[in-house]
Amino acid sequence: MIVAAFSTKPYDREFLERAAAGTGIEWRWFESRLEADTARLAEGAQAVNCFVNDDLGAVVLERLDALGVRLVTLRCAGFNQVDLPAAARLGLPVVRVPEYSPHAVAEHAVGLVLMLDRRLHKAFNRVREGNFSLDGLLGSDLHGRTVGVVGTGKIGRCFAEIMLGFGCRILAHDPRPDAALEARGVAYVPLADLLRDSDIVSLHCPLTPATHHLIDASRIKLMKPGAMLVNTSRGGLVDTRAVIAALKTGHIGHLGLDVYEEEADLFFEDKSSEIIGDDVFSRLLTFPNVVVTAHQAFFTRNALEAIASQTVRNLVHFKRGEPLEAVVRA
Ligand code: NAI
Repeated sequence: MIVAAFSTKPYDREFLERAAAGTGIEWRWFESRLEADTARLAEGAQAVNCFVNDDLGAVVLERLDALGVRLVTLRCAGFNQVDLPAAARLGLPVVRVPEYSPHAVAEHAVGLVLMLDRRLHKAFNRVREGNFSLDGLLGSDLHGRTVGVVGTGKIGRCFAEIMLGFGCRILAHDPRPDAALEARGVAYVPLADLLRDSDIVSLHCPLTPATHHLIDASRIKLMKPGAMLVNTSRGGLVDTRAVIAALKTGHIGHLGLDVYEEEADLFFEDKSSEIIGDDVFSRLLTFPNVVVTAHQAFFTRNALEAIASQTVRNLVHFKRGEPLEAVVRA
């Protein structure tokens, strides 16, 4: 079976090739993102394999369908990039990797919290320049602080558990509360209460039409002055312009992002010799209290192994005509 894999990097190929050894899967590797103009690269393939910033809108899905592609596999958990009603209309199953390493993402979110709170990004540069002054590096203990976790699914639960270990008080918001977390003292509250009472807010819910710009100007107003906001989920959860306005007034005290609403044209590529045309993103980078990582929260060996093995399992089930696991439905 031929699989056209888009947005691939050497590390994707290494892990996927190893996982697929002996299965009869023939990869066609493409660095390009899947979009309307590149869909034709899938000609001759029975399946495509895509990542977070590939375009799986109706136009692209129709082109894939016309080329004879019969399966869409995602090597990620999120599926906000797929037009699921269009896929259903075309009878194109979409499968994903629902869980690979929630620890990878949760631990990265904790890394951002510590980095921002203890000014590690500043300390790193300062010490390398022979500046051993502590002025401006004052942080606060995490112990005893209130952390708001929006979305306590696999990743949010892991994040909450780590923060409980620091001795934080945890407030959570999720339409489906987790009884095990409640038993450990996590309090489920309405979003407005969580925002009002938390020193640190970390987002772990999926991006859907209902959660688009979940954190907008009106919700930011509810947050404690000087609070920290961390988003390792999806860029569209946050209205970046509203966050910039709140950073300028100091209402948001720290911002940690692993995702950005317009990341598709930036992340995963080396742009270090180019001029960044996105003024909103460039403004973010000017703040001393903002740390941005380029969608790397998932990027651990454990996660890449798990992504590759579930992806290959999905493809093998399809190849053998067996029931598909991890199907994403509209
Ligand atoms: P999950 O499906 O296990 O958990 C999501 C939780 O969010 C569920 O408990 C759901 O009830 C809750 N939720 C839904 N709507 C909500 C709302 N309006 N308010 C509060 N909670 C809401 O998903 P998982 O595996 O924990 O992943 C969460 C998100 O993390 C994914 O959707 C994906 O976008 C993102 N992600 C980011 C990665 C990165 O590298 N930065 C890697 C993997 C996932």
